[in-house]
Amino acid sequence: MEEKKTPVTRRDFLSGMVAAGATLATARLAAAQAVQEATAPAVISSATAAVNSAEELRVAMIGPGSQGRTLLTNTLNIPNVRFVALCDIWDYSLDYASRICQKSDQPVNTYHDYREMLEKEKDLDAVLIATPDFLHAPMTLDCLHAGIHVYCEKEMSNTLEGCRQMVVAARETGKLLQIGHQRRSNPRYFLGEKLLHKDKFLGRVTHAYGQWNRLAMEMYGWPPGREIPADVLKAQGYDTMERFRNWRWYRQFGGGLMADLGSHQVDIFNWYFQCAPSRVTVSGGMDVLQGDREFPDNVMAIYEYDTAWGKVRAYYQVVSTSSFNGYYELFLGTEGTLMISEDPTKGFLFKEVSAPKREWEDEAKKVDSMGKEAIALQVGASRKQGEQKAEAMKEEEDANKPPHQLHLENFFAAVRDPGKVKLNCTAEAAFETAVSVLMVDTAFKNGHSYAFKKEEFKA
Ligand SMILES: NC(=O)c1ccc[n+]([C@@H]2O[C@H](COP(=O)([O-])OP(=O)(O)OC[C@H]3O[C@@H](n4cnc5c(N)ncnc54)[C@H](O)[C@@H]3O)[C@@H](O)[C@H]2O)c1
Repeated sequence: MEEKKTPVTRRDFLSGMVAAGATLATARLAAAQAVQEATAPAVISSATAAVNSAEELRVAMIGPGSQGRTLLTNTLNIPNVRFVALCDIWDYSLDYASRICQKSDQPVNTYHDYREMLEKEKDLDAVLIATPDFLHAPMTLDCLHAGIHVYCEKEMSNTLEGCRQMVVAARETGKLLQIGHQRRSNPRYFLGEKLLHKDKFLGRVTHAYGQWNRLAMEMYGWPPGREIPADVLKAQGYDTMERFRNWRWYRQFGGGLMADLGSHQVDIFNWYFQCAPSRVTVSGGMDVLQGDREFPDNVMAIYEYDTAWGKVRAYYQVVSTSSFNGYYELFLGTEGTLMISEDPTKGFLFKEVSAPKREWEDEAKKVDSMGKEAIALQVGASRKQGEQKAEAMKEEEDANKPPHQLHLENFFAAVRDPGKVKLNCTAEAAFETAVSVLMVDTAFKNGHSYAFKKEEFKA
């Protein structure tokens, strides 16, 4: 790489890299906004109007199921954001989430139909969408066109066309669209990115590895007596309660394990490699699990990237039949290896003996990992003396927040002041990831390999 080395200082390493992440996100968004500005200047100006920071943001959620409740409780920790409405076709989810809001002194109006909600709730600042993937595109489009900013869970959609429509709608309306790849707001991941690109701690990065191993062999059920009436289910496009609860396994509703879990980690490959993959080669199948599931219960995918370092190969696996070692990513280079994860117990740097020594290394915390000495990947650690105490405490506090909260905070800060705060996961960035994981299905049909075309990553 020709770029000049700007090493990570001790202060950088020990104090976290929020600024580094913000800079990268800013660069990405600036590029996205350049496109937006070129195509929809009139609309952009209305979107960039800042909301007074003391004013409460009025927010609604569509689909407060399992993940929706995580977003809900995380949002309730954020000052000056108030839920005013919830929408879900399942009364069980609606009752559960309304009670949570009520307990936090945020009584909400409830709806079964999101279109009715958009019609009646006239002054919403933002909508959070956490429904099954196939609903993300139509719901996002309707919210954006109603003039409302959207935080939508990943995967953007279970179809590439749905993803593309979301990017275009955000561009055309000038409204904000944050996609729920929450690692992009995580200070540990900012630190990892800086170690690869600024410090070049790994030297020439050659390979990556990612896994999500989990034991998830059973289908989901539902509380007795809380079924949705059959005619209501059918009208909403779900043929049975079983398929409604287990939507992930069916093409009509979801995108399979690569979209569900793999997308979070392939998103990190794309972010850290600063490019989209050029090829993917896959294996996997419905080998162990039973039933009428339509996606493989395990996938092994080898992505190839043509990076500024040169060729990088990244192996990714997701399995449903073993939880061994959970989820994490590894980045391997000629001078060291980074292990990073949303799981804060899995953050280490391993150094090759031949690698040059960094000035901060002696003071960094050392731990034993897999029988080898490693440097713990710490954000906001140990500057708790003297002048930097308050700053260090704030950084550490941020690093200890639930990961979704940080991503939501970034979204609401951008809603308040879009001119100043940039989204950490724009629709454009998420689109690249969506193409990377949704095309795995095509690779399976295509003799187990697929060569991406550059233009496929542009919506
Ligand atoms: N970012 C993350 O870490 C993360 C984690 C888990 C799930 N997710 C994503 O969150 C989304 C939801 O996943 P989940 O596990 O919570 O699923 P879930 O099935 O538990 O919840 C989905 C909710 O949407 C509701 N719903 C379905 N159709 C609806 C409609 N037409 N109108 C209104 N509500 C409707 C359901 O009744 C349910 O309450 C998915 O897109 C998933 O990929 C993201």
